[in-house]
Amino acid sequence: MPVAIAEIAFSQEQISRRVRQLAKVIRSDLAGRRPLLVSVLQGSVVFLADLVRALELDCDIDFLSVSSYPGEYQTGGVVRIIKDLEIVLEDRHVVLIEDIVDTGLTLAFLLKTLKARDPKEIKVCTLVDKPVRRIAQPPIDYIGFQSDRFLIGYGLDFQGLYRNLPYLAAVNDVPALAAEPRLLEPLFSGVEQV
Ligand code: PRP
Repeated sequence: MPVAIAEIAFSQEQISRRVRQLAKVIRSDLAGRRPLLVSVLQGSVVFLADLVRALELDCDIDFLSVSSYPGEYQTGGVVRIIKDLEIVLEDRHVVLIEDIVDTGLTLAFLLKTLKARDPKEIKVCTLVDKPVRRIAQPPIDYIGFQSDRFLIGYGLDFQGLYRNLPYLAAVNDVPALAAEPRLLEPLFSGVEQV
């Protein structure tokens, strides 16, 4: 049987269960606090939306967006903020919400930048930890899933597509998808692999 171009890696049920588990740990760690959840646009929005509803804790939410320069990014990690937070971080208990930590360069930059604003603490929560391409080694407190596969869905995109898949799918044939980005649209119709 030929290998699927893409298939479900983590189902809606698996994600939902894991989000509830993470929320329980975060709730316990931050009991009595009012954390500020900082979501890194755009991918983490889907994860944030489920996590915050499972958290059952008073909290604030804010968003930032970064861009990176592809050439230099690979070697030196040139990342900059293109949309900054509105809430002041001083003395806050911050939980930085990421969809994926890949090279680690974005997270390393964000931790350095946000720590300079004197928060009480910054914890990091990522839906996916992908250690295989790691360059920087920023600390991660909460991890949903560890995977070295090329994932799309549940916030993660391919050329802007597939963020709204309700689960995480693994792409086995990235060149095929690059040649035809809409190749995986049948996934939206309920098929489990393409
Ligand atoms: C993703 C993710 C992280 C970054 C991680 O964002 O949200 O911010 O890449 O990669 P790194 O560990 O190699 O630095 P992306 O640039 O894909 O933007 P998006 O969330 O808007 O899709």
